[in-house]
Amino acid sequence: GTPDTRFPTGAESGAASTGNAQQGALLTTSQGTPLRDTDHSLKAGPRGPILLQDHHFREKITHFDHERIPERVVHARGAGAHGLFTAYGTAEPITRAAFLKKGRQTPVFVRFSTVLGSRGSADTVRDTRGFATKFYTGEGTFDLVGNNMPVFFIQDAIKFPDIIHAAKWHPDREIPQAQSAHDTFWDFVSLHTEAQHHTMWNMSDRGIPRSYRMMEGFGVHTFRLVNEAGETVLVKFHWKPKLGVHSLTWEEAQLIGGVDPDFHRRDLYDAIEAGAYPEWELGLQVFPDTPEETFAGIDLLDPTKLVPEELAEVQPVGKLVLNRVPTNFFAEVEQVAFHLGQLPPGIDVTNDPLLQGRLFSYVDTQLTRLGGPNFSQIPVNRPHAPVNDMLRDGFHQDAVHGGVAPYRPNSLDGGNPFTAGDRGFVDVPVRVAEAPKIRENPVSFDDHFSQARLFWRSMSPVEKEHIVSAYAFELGKCYEQAIKERQLRCLATIDPVLCEQVAASLGLPAPAPDRPVVEVTPSPALSQVGVEWPAD
Ligand code: HEM
Repeated sequence: GTPDTRFPTGAESGAASTGNAQQGALLTTSQGTPLRDTDHSLKAGPRGPILLQDHHFREKITHFDHERIPERVVHARGAGAHGLFTAYGTAEPITRAAFLKKGRQTPVFVRFSTVLGSRGSADTVRDTRGFATKFYTGEGTFDLVGNNMPVFFIQDAIKFPDIIHAAKWHPDREIPQAQSAHDTFWDFVSLHTEAQHHTMWNMSDRGIPRSYRMMEGFGVHTFRLVNEAGETVLVKFHWKPKLGVHSLTWEEAQLIGGVDPDFHRRDLYDAIEAGAYPEWELGLQVFPDTPEETFAGIDLLDPTKLVPEELAEVQPVGKLVLNRVPTNFFAEVEQVAFHLGQLPPGIDVTNDPLLQGRLFSYVDTQLTRLGGPNFSQIPVNRPHAPVNDMLRDGFHQDAVHGGVAPYRPNSLDGGNPFTAGDRGFVDVPVRVAEAPKIRENPVSFDDHFSQARLFWRSMSPVEKEHIVSAYAFELGKCYEQAIKERQLRCLATIDPVLCEQVAASLGLPAPAPDRPVVEVTPSPALSQVGVEWPAD
């Protein structure tokens, strides 16, 4: 008979090479067998039962049964977009990172998120927002995994399970889904006072952003940059939105949460599709890399502290434009895997104990979430730099590795490391303290209140009103009186007026602080070091 031209021969089909599972005009099984019928299971007569031999039925149902992967243990709810980062060249004197050289353009993928809610929770809840950026640089991927607030709840990563267990839902009833209005959260932050500063940011209008396009982003930790000459500086990363920082009011957030729980997601995608591309400038606060790792009296390794911008100006080093929405949410937004240890030559870590713990946590969780060690082969995670890594095999291995000698040294085939003349990553040979092994913080981490006070006092009257209402609403949801009272004593340590106003709203007496109130004013800044910032 006549050959059926609707189906390519095996040799013609491109499916194997492209990995695209939706090719050809007709439906097939996953193995490419053409299907006559996908609407009826194979039965013993029209009234059944279904026959075990119905391979198509079993394949279709089995695959569906396994469609979900675990949601992220935190930051489960998010939205992402692709874009382009263009460097101004202003950071060239302080880092050898090639993607920061003048005019260099780097593709990026950004994922915004809430921290606490589950994958289907509302966008407009009071929470910190994640702001994670994957720069696909020619020298390997750089992940800047930040938040929309410049400080964090804890100073040591070993406490991350504690704060998250306290802040997510109660283990018994699994409520609330996504907010801090509950006993365990306030129990934790009132017992664990280093969390007071970040909590104050959450209670401010920053906790209910108007749009992802109108949020700042912060790398939070201090990082170390190294230039061609091997000189180092300490820096903090900042994203400044072109549209400015804007928030919802609490009432707006409540209404929108009901009417359109996808508000931020929709806003991001609608804006990009309308050509109103969101933009941010990447900026750096730069500090001298002194042995003390402090600036203006502030310990740069303490992630509960910021450096006020009056003391260290944020210097712009490049621009980010988001200009493309995902075509498949699962493939891009759900499967993207960030890790702050992904650093190009020219950017290095510091000993911030929160940062150090994060270096372990992300890959560890992704091994489970993304089903094994090969998730960097998922398209959104693939580096845009050549990869020659000697890693082999494992679950979900897509690569067919050539070569017979995945070890070095070898005399059979490739795999040469960079040599001194090349641009390989060199760890900055920072001195490690000659000190006893201990489980202890430096005394410079002891002050838990002065920056919360600085934040409160810098607010305008209407912003202060919002903060008081937020504390009153969230604390008002606690069942335990003792927890409310303990948190009020923390507020008294921050500022007596704040405490009185929140107490009055709760119908409770304003307590005295239960610890000494220490006023700490950051000392005047040293001049910025080592960088000749060009005039704008
Ligand atoms: C996820 C930021 C602290 C563990 C994330 C995400 C962001 C983020 C933005 C979402 C990434 C995405 O969109 O896929 C931060 C910031 C921190 C911080 C700014 C402090 C400055 C920590 C700490 C730990 C941790 C201390 C653990 C010790 C995780 C884990 C995930 C995550 C396990 C889920 C990752 C995944 O499933 O792919 N974090 N985080 N984070 N974070 Fe953090």
